[in-house]
Amino acid sequence: MNNRPLTAKINDKGHLEIGGCDTTELAKQFGTPLYVLDELTVRHNCRQYVSTLKSKYPDSLVIYASKALCNTAILKMIADEGLGADVSSGGELFTAKKAGIGPEKIYFHGNNKSRKEIEEGIAYGVKFVVDNFRELKNLDEISSSMDKQVEILFRVNPGIEAHTHEFIQTGKIDSKFGLQKSEVASAVKIAKDSKRLDFIGLHAHIGSQILDIDPYLIEVDILFSLAEGAKELNLGGGWGISYLGEEVPPVPELLEKVIGKVKAKKNFAPRLVFEPGRSIVGQAGITLYTVSYVKDIPGIRKYAMVDGGMSDNPRPILYDARYDAVVANRNEAPKITYRVAGRFCESGDVLIKEIKLPEIKEDDLLAVFATGAYNYSMSSNYNRVPRPAMVMVGNGKAVSIIKRETYENLVEEDLCP
Ligand code: LLP
Repeated sequence: MNNRPLTAKINDKGHLEIGGCDTTELAKQFGTPLYVLDELTVRHNCRQYVSTLKSKYPDSLVIYASKALCNTAILKMIADEGLGADVSSGGELFTAKKAGIGPEKIYFHGNNKSRKEIEEGIAYGVKFVVDNFRELKNLDEISSSMDKQVEILFRVNPGIEAHTHEFIQTGKIDSKFGLQKSEVASAVKIAKDSKRLDFIGLHAHIGSQILDIDPYLIEVDILFSLAEGAKELNLGGGWGISYLGEEVPPVPELLEKVIGKVKAKKNFAPRLVFEPGRSIVGQAGITLYTVSYVKDIPGIRKYAMVDGGMSDNPRPILYDARYDAVVANRNEAPKITYRVAGRFCESGDVLIKEIKLPEIKEDDLLAVFATGAYNYSMSSNYNRVPRPAMVMVGNGKAVSIIKRETYENLVEEDLCP
């Protein structure tokens, strides 16, 4: 199934195995809930982007949108695969630096970068994707006072809004992000008049979990019409993944069509930048939970209660996101419909509204698929529950890349004046 890590299989004990590791052993060794990330899937996804571009459009760069999943080990791995990083905060920048990603491959995003974050970005020498005129003014002032040159792109609101199943194109999209198209020329003029700012190009990001190539082709048209002579066009991220097993056109198909469109433009040939997040890490991650209890409300439904929920995966409660799961410790055909509920003090804390599973017994292990993107990165300590650990698996080995939080971690910043 294309919503599972590439290495997922059922082993001869009937257990789910990822990266050559038996998930029941992982649960024993590291506890649950547990985020498991499959190294091979992440690397494969990086290579799909890098190798397609290398053969079809070498003047290009892939930068991983670190907001999807940010920690030192994962950023080291994507750097090892030749990707740069999109950072959207001082914290993500700090992690990218720690992972050894060079400044020439880091793009600093965000619609409200603080002066401190701007100083940190300039000091390291990263490129800035400027969101608005106030940031432009701050960058000009701060770069002058630090006596440093800064390469900048402008984020443009292209007037396209793309979602999973549809996209719309309007003259004016109501969004906090980016410059309106009509503002681009004056922003470029300010940058060109500045001694410290070097304008290199434009950026747009049209949405997330997009499964349709057409909005990207329109984005190319719009950016080309606004960026005459720009050295670089950054087309953002947003390519979707399969959550429930639905078909998703492969990344090379997206890239080839976009490149075809770019090559058909004869006025200029910019460097192309892509910044995928979800399509690099989403499919690589699963979350393991222990089911403690099944509550049967006769005639209504059966609740399978797991030991995590909305704090390790807030996407169902935030976006109504849907997930697929299996019982990982027994290979039996699904036959009973359950609602998978979390352990948090909120009725809406439901991970999966309805799913058919084998009959669940106490202490069964549940594996939820496609949790690699925007799960850990949006996790919280709601109810003062420590965040789960994350392990990376590959070739039969599991290494911890994020430690499980402890109660001590939870009270670390508390002050009792
Ligand atoms: N570039 C920019 C400027 C972005 O804002 C984003 C995501 C990306 C790239 C990467 O997009 P991706 O390839 O991952 O779709 N929390 C939501 C997703 C928010 C996406 C925000 N921006 C979720 O869980 O679905």
